[in-house]
Amino acid sequence: MSLNTMSDMIQDTSAGLFKVHQSVFTDPELFVREQETIFNNCWIYVGHEAEIPKSGNFIARTVVGRKIIFVRDSKGQVRVFFNTCRHWGAMVCRHHRGTTTSFQCFYHGWTYNTSGHLIGLPDKDAYPDTMDREDLGLVSPPKVDSYRGFVFMSLNSAIISLHDYLAGAKKYIDLVVDQAIDGMEIIGGEQKYGSRANWKLLAVNSVDVYHAAPAHQTYFEYLKSIGVDFSNSYRLPGKAMDLGNGHTVVEFEAPWGRPIAKWAPYFPSEQQPEIEKTRLLLEARYGLDRAYRMTQTSRNMLIFPNLNINDHVAIVIRTYNAPSPDSMEVTNWALAPKNESGFNRALRLDNFLTFLGPGGFATPDDVEAFESCQRAFANREVTWVDVSKGASKQEAAATDELQMRVFWRQWHRLIQNPELTHSNALVTTAQP
Ligand code: FES
Ligand SMILES: [Fe+2]
Repeated sequence: MSLNTMSDMIQDTSAGLFKVHQSVFTDPELFVREQETIFNNCWIYVGHEAEIPKSGNFIARTVVGRKIIFVRDSKGQVRVFFNTCRHWGAMVCRHHRGTTTSFQCFYHGWTYNTSGHLIGLPDKDAYPDTMDREDLGLVSPPKVDSYRGFVFMSLNSAIISLHDYLAGAKKYIDLVVDQAIDGMEIIGGEQKYGSRANWKLLAVNSVDVYHAAPAHQTYFEYLKSIGVDFSNSYRLPGKAMDLGNGHTVVEFEAPWGRPIAKWAPYFPSEQQPEIEKTRLLLEARYGLDRAYRMTQTSRNMLIFPNLNINDHVAIVIRTYNAPSPDSMEVTNWALAPKNESGFNRALRLDNFLTFLGPGGFATPDDVEAFESCQRAFANREVTWVDVSKGASKQEAAATDELQMRVFWRQWHRLIQNPELTHSNALVTTAQP
């Protein structure tokens, strides 16, 4: 594919039909351009502050293909560094996670504190006096910032602020975070899995309700067996919204019980008072309407390009790296209110494993769906993917495809003009 055909990747017609060229999932040249214009350009999720609650806590991970250290320094400040020694470039942190006061490079022993300063230089007298150690600290990405505990970085020093970038997504992050009376924590551990499919298939799948009934039939049967009626999922009461800048959400009446704070008949009756108490507390704090949405509705949010917050029974934070056009590496975390009851925590962890976990009811179905699409993209003669559902409606239902079109339009804008991230013109539309 030639790059000057970029404008032909999407057909967004006035008749409401919306199509995506299937080469966007396979083309190696486009994949390289995507790294430059999307991943090296946008605000990208690094992790949650609650993963490193104490000074010295650190995690080494890969974000947009970069090896990074996510650490809380001795003064309690959260920092992000490239995991690269300033001597010959070895990785200074070789553990996945832990607690430390310093990072010592195993190769020649240069040592950095948790604020990134070079504090140890073996045989230092052999170095010229002109060498300035202040200049040889660990390097941070050009931009690091956080919103309500969610930490992001950008490789683009000219990008708009994280606050402006998140646009209408901030209100939905608030709706999730405010559910916790005593603040949120990340439950220990993470789920990791891979898929032989393009990352964008997961991005749009994460806000796709249309596929639920046919693809997740086994889960629906299980729900039925515990008394949850999801039989008419195509009429699920809910809506999809454009949150600006490619971010989008589907919000719907939850057919299942929620630890925050929706009672379900299949919960043990002795749990009812606690769930009611939480609901009343949230109503007193946030008013009836907002508390209703917090407790009685579920939502799947996509923060462009590769962060999902799925607030069902568990709250699942998910992000993905794309090492190649036809592969992705996925990580899931469970976000939960601190100090919740043992019942609520067990319910949440069970859902984290049994629904969106890699061995759960939903994810294996979804992975099979992406990989099936990816394999069939070998049929280049069938050129277009259709994303038109609900395009002529005034208000999109949760089971329509507005949310995918929001993603694709932003992807297409940035692929053609990455400099849009340098100004508030990036904000396209944002609804409450
Ligand atoms: S590469 Fe790190 S001390 Fe030499
Ligand atoms: Fe799914």
